Amino acid sequence: MSPQYFSLQADNTFGLKIQARQRIIADTPNTILSAWQNSRRRHQPFLLLGAGSNVLFLNDFAGIVVLNRIKGIKINEQDKAWKLHVGAGENWHMLVEWTLKKGINGLENLALIPGMTGSAPVQNIGAYGMEFKDVCEYVDILNLNTGITQRLDREECAFGYRDSIFKYEPYYAIIAVGINLSKQWQPLLTYGDLARLNPVTVTAFEVFNTICYMRKSKLPETCMTGNVGSFFKNPLVSYEKAEMLKMTYPGIPSYPQVNGKVKLAAGWLIDQCQLKGLRIGGAEVYQKQALVLINVGHATSQDIIELAKTVRFHVGKKFDVWLEPEVRFIGAHGEYNTPIKAIL
Ligand code: FAD
Ligand code: EPU
Repeated sequence: MSPQYFSLQADNTFGLKIQARQRIIADTPNTILSAWQNSRRRHQPFLLLGAGSNVLFLNDFAGIVVLNRIKGIKINEQDKAWKLHVGAGENWHMLVEWTLKKGINGLENLALIPGMTGSAPVQNIGAYGMEFKDVCEYVDILNLNTGITQRLDREECAFGYRDSIFKYEPYYAIIAVGINLSKQWQPLLTYGDLARLNPVTVTAFEVFNTICYMRKSKLPETCMTGNVGSFFKNPLVSYEKAEMLKMTYPGIPSYPQVNGKVKLAAGWLIDQCQLKGLRIGGAEVYQKQALVLINVGHATSQDIIELAKTVRFHVGKKFDVWLEPEVRFIGAHGEYNTPIKAIL
């Protein structure tokens, strides 16, 4: 008799019909640890997930998927700041909204990002001029190899653009995060349409509402349309390369970085290749935001990969800029660590 499998369709926002050998909901670090130990004993792969809003399953998963649902929010009010200690399984957007309702400002620019709080440090979520690292004080991890919990301060997390130490330490299970929000609130209005708000009178709730409105106007809702937000990262190129591109494409959006590199907008590059609406099987380049690949309802993992390959090829051929995925590829035995060229 073949073993029973469990559906992960509701646990990946692409909405792919994927199954796993076992699916466990963990509301304590101990549950995560014992699932890990079981997976070692049975020689089965192990995967820790939040809401599955940044993963693309390539196959059914041949092992145990643990959904992190460790709850709990503690607030410590100090003279100059609010200190939050948040369980990794708290929903991120609900945390943002909850803090604002309590009169605690500072998370509003990261509104409406799907997923769990414990996943926020993994790729150092960012939007509208802010990144998780800007408010992170510490990250508590459970080291699956040793069973010991450990606190990493912000510097130890090695945060970068869509990057952190957690992408390279498969034995680190994030169980809580510490957030530091200054009481001296300053609105962050540098990004796009936010610049239209009046910095003197604007409230954190207005920033929150504006961002929710802007996001809803260009990103699909995961409950209606399968997607993982930006499929690719925005590419970082040399100053010289950016200047060369500007000569041919004067309208190209470009954002100089402190390290001398220049960030380009992958969505713009894809759009310039006229790829919006391109469909392969059940996968499509989203009409309102070319950096988002969607599941129109019946997409397979292979459809999404084929579409991503096509997009990457066209952008590479036109601009000689080779996009790298933001989404994490998960194979039958765990995260795919082969060079990305083997997939795309
Ligand atoms: P998952 O997809 O479940 O996991 C992501 C990775 O983290 C996996 O490799 C997983 O193994 C690992 N992981 C999960 N939990 C833990 C843990 N507790 N300990 C260790 N590793 C763990 N991202 C942005 O940065 N900015 C955006 O503006 C943004 N907008 C989005 C909009 C939409 C519509 C969608 C669908 C996605 C968007 N994303 C954005 C991407 C995504 O929401 C974030 O990356 C989010 O943090 C993922 O959370 P998750 O709980 O779904 O993580
Ligand atoms: N653009 C186009 N056509 C498109 C899409 C974008 O011309 O189809 C242009 C826009 O007009 C703008 C520029 O590209 O000039 C940037 O677009 P946008 O402001 O929509 O942001 P993005 O660079 O595409 C990034 C993040 C998002 C984040 C937004 C807002 C990455 C990979 N993506 O997108 O994060 O929400 O900025 O800050 O950095 C995610 O990571 O999943 C994600 C959604």
